[in-house]
Amino acid sequence: MASPPDSASILDVYGTLAAVYDWLVPDALLTPEGSAQAFAPLLEPGSRVLDCAAGTGTLAVGLALAGFEVTASDASPEMIARTRALADARGVDVRPHLRVWADLHGGPYDAVLCVGNSLAHAQGRRGRRAALTAMARVLRPGGLLLVTARNWERVRAGQSGLEVGERLVERDGVLGLVIRSWTLADQWTEPHLLDTAVALLDGEGRVTTHAERLPFWPFPHETLDADLRASGLRPETSSWAPDADRYLVTSRR
Ligand SMILES: C[S@@+](CC[C@H](N)C(=O)[O-])C[C@H]1O[C@@H](n2cnc3c(N)ncnc32)[C@H](O)[C@@H]1O
Repeated sequence: MASPPDSASILDVYGTLAAVYDWLVPDALLTPEGSAQAFAPLLEPGSRVLDCAAGTGTLAVGLALAGFEVTASDASPEMIARTRALADARGVDVRPHLRVWADLHGGPYDAVLCVGNSLAHAQGRRGRRAALTAMARVLRPGGLLLVTARNWERVRAGQSGLEVGERLVERDGVLGLVIRSWTLADQWTEPHLLDTAVALLDGEGRVTTHAERLPFWPFPHETLDADLRASGLRPETSSWAPDADRYLVTSRR
């Protein structure tokens, strides 16, 4: 049985994976331009935007390149370092800073984004509502919150166990194999675990593996709706569908 996460691991769940994150994301989302494509049309031109789970920074940098005034924050120092490096490489300023959701301040922003299935790292209903309340707090009245999530109903309908990538993934000429292992708890409210390993192969057949245990607290889509309302937000649209793998919820302060 996997051990439960401690609070330190939740504050920096992505330290090891930051180096190999590119092997985990689909080709279309590797570039800033590709990452921004789904979200830019939802934002008013020139908006002040906070990406509060910035990860490697591709979305924040993509939105900055598209003319938005962007701030990027994340709980992981390694992710923030990647965001800063990408912003520098692409010649934009996204004001990268290390910040957990509960500590969000500044703004007010026209829009806050918490995407890439990040909210499931908030600990249970209390953690989720604290995070959403903090996101609402930095929005201007009428401002827009964009949250994306996995369809956890579908995930929980499956089994715990190993998923080994069906093909090698190539990034900058380096081949990697992605392996995930889900530990689904009996109850929705218990912590679930996703062990993720990226095994990189060098030209001589040597393998270097980067692995991390990611804790998460899944939620049904109705619960997300209730949590948004309890956090001072007004849900507007949801793309949830029984057979969709992921969905986007828009809400306003
Ligand atoms: C699944 S990744 C998604 C990153 C990015 N949005 C993307 O789509 O690639 C989740 C991100 O949320 C961050 N995160 C997890 N818990 C957090 C918290 N409490 N406060 C701020 N960021 C957090 C992680 O460090 C990680 O970068």
